[in-house]
Formats: sequence, C-alpha cells, structure tokens
Amino acid sequence: MKVSVSQVELAAVEAGLLVVGLCEGEELPAEFAAAPGAADAKASFKKLAVIHPAQPTRVLVVGLGKREDLDPERARIAAALAAKEAGKLKVASLAWAVPEHADRDALVEGIVTGTILGAYRFDRFKSADPDDPVPAGVDSLSLLAPENVAAAAEAARVCAQAQNRARDLQSLPSNVATPTYLANRAEEIAAAHEAVSVEILGRNEIAAKEMGGLVAVSQGSAEDPRLIVLRYAGGGSGETLGLVGKGVTFDTGGISLKPSAGMPDMKMDMSGAAAVIETVGAVAELGLKLDLIAVVPSTENMPSGTAIKPGDIITQYNGKTVEVNNTDAEGRLILADALAYAIEQGADRVVDIATLTGAVMIALGSSYAAVISNDDDLASEIEGVGRETGELVWRLPLHPEYKALMKGTVGDLTNAATKRKAGTISAASFLEEFVGETPWAHLDIAGTAWDVGREYTGNDASGYGVRLLTGLARSFSA
Ligand code: BES
Ligand code: MN
Ligand code: ZN
Repeated sequence: MKVSVSQVELAAVEAGLLVVGLCEGEELPAEFAAAPGAADAKASFKKLAVIHPAQPTRVLVVGLGKREDLDPERARIAAALAAKEAGKLKVASLAWAVPEHADRDALVEGIVTGTILGAYRFDRFKSADPDDPVPAGVDSLSLLAPENVAAAAEAARVCAQAQNRARDLQSLPSNVATPTYLANRAEEIAAAHEAVSVEILGRNEIAAKEMGGLVAVSQGSAEDPRLIVLRYAGGGSGETLGLVGKGVTFDTGGISLKPSAGMPDMKMDMSGAAAVIETVGAVAELGLKLDLIAVVPSTENMPSGTAIKPGDIITQYNGKTVEVNNTDAEGRLILADALAYAIEQGADRVVDIATLTGAVMIALGSSYAAVISNDDDLASEIEGVGRETGELVWRLPLHPEYKALMKGTVGDLTNAATKRKAGTISAASFLEEFVGETPWAHLDIAGTAWDVGREYTGNDASGYGVRLLTGLARSFSA
C-alpha cells in the first residue's frame, strides 16, 4: 500500500473515500455540517456513517468515542473498520483526516497499521468469478496531517506490510509452506538487503550438528527439515539480539496423534517462524541500528514408521537428554536446540516465539500472549512494547517447582509432564534448561496467532509478533 502525508484542505481531497473521525460532544468539520446524511453521523466508538457533501462527494464518518479514550489501539480499530468499508464501496484510494492528538505520531501509527492490516485478504486460492469480480482493494492511503508525521507513517507501513507477509506464510497450507518454502523466503529477504545474510542447514547438516530435537521431530516426515539462520548486521553500539521462532509447518502430533477436528489449523504451527522471518525483513527495511541473529528450526511433525515414539530418549544440541513421552510436545524439542544454537552463535539476549501450548488459550484467550522470562528488564521491555503496539503480553512466573515437573525418570528431562499442571509454564521451564544465564524471554502465541477476532486482525492469521519484535529491536537499537 502506498502511504503519503498531505496538507490539502478537506474539500480538495481527491481520494475515492475521505475518512473523518468524530469524537463525542464534538461537531463535524464545518464544511460537512450541512451535507446530506450528516444528521446520521454518530460519535460513539466504531459507528460508521457515509455522508455526501458537494466536495468530496463521499465521506465516511467514524465514531471515535470519548476524546480522552482516543489512543493508538482505538485508531487501529477505527482505521480497520474504515478500510473494510472502503472495500465494500470498492474504493481503491483512502484519505484520513488525522484527528488532533497530543501524540500525533502514535495516532498515525494506529491509522496506518489499522488500514493495512484491516484491508488484508488471503484469497490467492479462490478462482475468479466473472459474474462477481473481486475488487482490487485499497491500495493507497493519504494522511491529512502535518508533514512531521511522515517518519512515523513510514515505519508503521513497513511493519504492517511485513505483518501481512507473515499472515500469508501462516495461511499457506502445509503442502505449499514447507520448511524449504520458509527457507526460500529467508533467502529472498537476505538477497534484498545488503546487511542480511542467511545460512540454511538441511537434514544431513542438522544431524551432523547433533541437533537431536530437530532430528527427532523431523525423522517421521518425508519433507526435508531446515534450520534457517538469518543474521542482520545493522551496527550500532548494542549487543546482539537473538530471535528464535517455532517453524512446525504441520503438527499432526506425531505418534501421539491429535484428534481430526481442528487439525487443519495446525498448518499455522509455524506462526513464530513467520513472525521472526518477516521481522528480520522489517528491521532491515527500517535500517535499525542493531545486530540480530534469527534462528528458525522448521519441520513437519508426522507419524510414520520412522517417527519418534513415546518414551524414546534423545540428546539435544547442548548435551541434555530428553525422554520424549509425548510426541505432540514437539515444539519445545526443536526450540531447545535453536535456543542453544542462537546463544552459542552470539546472542546476548534471546527471545523465542512459538505456538507452543493449547493451555495458553485457556489462560489468556486471544487477547494476550504469555511472556515467561528469566530477566525482569527484558520482560518489562517486552510488556512496554506490547502496550505500544497493541500486541499485548502478560507475564507468567517461573519457579523451581515448575521445573521439577519436567524432570525425566531415566533421562535428564521429560518433554511432557505427567500431571497436567501449568502447561504453558512447564513448557517454558523446559526451554529454560537450554538458555543458561543468558537473558531470555519466551512468547507463547498459540492463542494470539490465529482467530483473534479483533477488527484489524480478523478471524484467521493475525501475524502476531511482527510489530512486537520489530518494536523490541527498535528499543534495543542505537
Ligand atoms: N502446536 C501445539 C500447540 C497448539 C495448540 C498451537 C492449539 C495452536 C493451537 C503444540 O505442539 C502441542 O501440541 N502442545 C501440546 C503439549 C502437550 C502434549 C504437553 C498441548 O498444548 O496440548
Ligand atoms: Mn504438538
Ligand atoms: Zn506444535
């Protein structure tokens, strides 16, 4: 989407649809006060009305609620509603009269993000219907605001478009978005940016490195696994930030097979990988001044004659042994190797992001991701960026008693506790065994990656994590 900033008068707007916000107790702009339909304009939050002044001929009035409640999140929601309305009206170009606000940049971020995410569709597998052609969709957004919001608008555009690319990766079925496909996408990003380099390991190289977790999960699948490593050298004085994303391109559960109902959604078990890969692209496009290392272990989790069996014992990359008592607890096995590898390769702080446990949906639904961390500073940095971006996180604790749940009987660890206690935290406690003293935070996005139902995320792929991780990278850049 093309995003621009302009200071033209409202009456001179040429876009297909002009959007103006209306706060409670306030009036429409004077030039529209007497327009046909103006009496229907409502200020309550999320109310929409189309009015028809002489010039421009069509204006969408979006209710913004109380002025004191107007914040970036409300702007994202209002902008998504406006973008969807523009879609219905088959309008390609939008203009937004950005409301006055103490933090104009933040409001602009919200409007740009909400528009781009709200206009997103995944329809590449739908055949064209000649009787009902799908309109091309909104392709340009002009912000009516002072010129100095241009940098905020551009940063928001880059992040939101990267997020939509992550949504594409999530939505693609597993017969398209294979580990090799994700690796190719990483290679594309590296080819597009001087500062990004990529390294891809295949099945034999993964085995040669003795990454026992990734070997074990991938051994039941005919599809080749990949360990994808992206490095971004943005310079600056800071330390290297490590990002690790779970890239299970389809999770059947393996021999501990999942029930059929709901299994199609398990194509999205690579949502962490999608967020990490597209974040590297966004960070590079923004030219943030920091160094990054991103590690994405990617594989299918399949049952077969060669699959790992419940009770099998494996040796992870860092030498710890694990009893694989439930082959459906596969994410932690591949993340364990990847976390140890990212730290060995120079990450000074590491954040992993994964659709790791069904339990996080029970705990937090789709509104908050869980964050679990061994470092208070890193955790509160992530909480802060979450509040800014609207990609919210809620911290859950670590405790030696949770760690004890993951002790093995014959191996060092088990991948699945026998008691169904604290599923999200016990998974994180398993991962904690692989990070040593390095500041680490784990994001469980099983609830936020899919079917969030917010106006700007929709009911399928949300792309959760791209804005959060890019924001975190920005906060560590200098
Ligand atoms: N990929 C799933 C978690 C998941 C569930 C993601 C629902 C998205 C939606 C993960 O690999 C898994 O199967 N976890 C198990 C762990 C259990 C066997 C200890 C779970 O949560 O049931
Ligand atoms: Mn699983
Ligand atoms: Zn999984």
